[in-house]
Amino acid sequence: MQHIFQKGTTATTLLLLHGTGGTEQDLLPLAEMISPSANVLSVRGNVLENGMPRFFRRLAEGVFDIEDLVFRTKELQEFLDEAARNYEFDRSKVIAIGYSNGANIAGSLLFHYKNALQAAILFHPMVPRRGVALPSLTEIPVFIGAGNNDPICPPQETNDLAALLQDAGADVQLSWHSFGHQLTRDEVAAAKTWFEEKL
Ligand code: MLT
Repeated sequence: MQHIFQKGTTATTLLLLHGTGGTEQDLLPLAEMISPSANVLSVRGNVLENGMPRFFRRLAEGVFDIEDLVFRTKELQEFLDEAARNYEFDRSKVIAIGYSNGANIAGSLLFHYKNALQAAILFHPMVPRRGVALPSLTEIPVFIGAGNNDPICPPQETNDLAALLQDAGADVQLSWHSFGHQLTRDEVAAAKTWFEEKL
């Protein structure tokens, strides 16, 4: 997968996953704000929707192509294993930071693979898939940044996601904001505080 890797000075690797129409450049400032000493692996989604990179196909706004979601989630999981070998970082210390479509593929990694992520920061995520049994996510810290007026991820969707992750054992923290689907500085600051407490 097309990506950027930046070597840091700690064992942690931040996996950056952009929103629809973004690139691997987009979230680099977030990594710098949340943990400037970590390694950074920033990946570009392999799917194009009218020229806009995404991490998996969708059939309509908010309606996911589940077959492609499963395929792309496996592809990303295997890419992480390969990148850990190539760049010699600790595969067990990968923390995802995803926004929107990037948060949804990060959520899908948690839904499908037990040891995919050490922790996750999900900005404006949806439930990636319903009606499946999640692996055990005991004490995996998950931060969810959400908008109480987000038209793409309504609060019920956020609460459903938090409940599904909690039922699998994850340690979920919700952070509510009022700027629709936008990722704001306040939200990133809340994620940084959470990161410093939990990791
Ligand atoms: C998705 O397709 O993953 C969600 O609708 C969010 C987005 O618009 O990217």
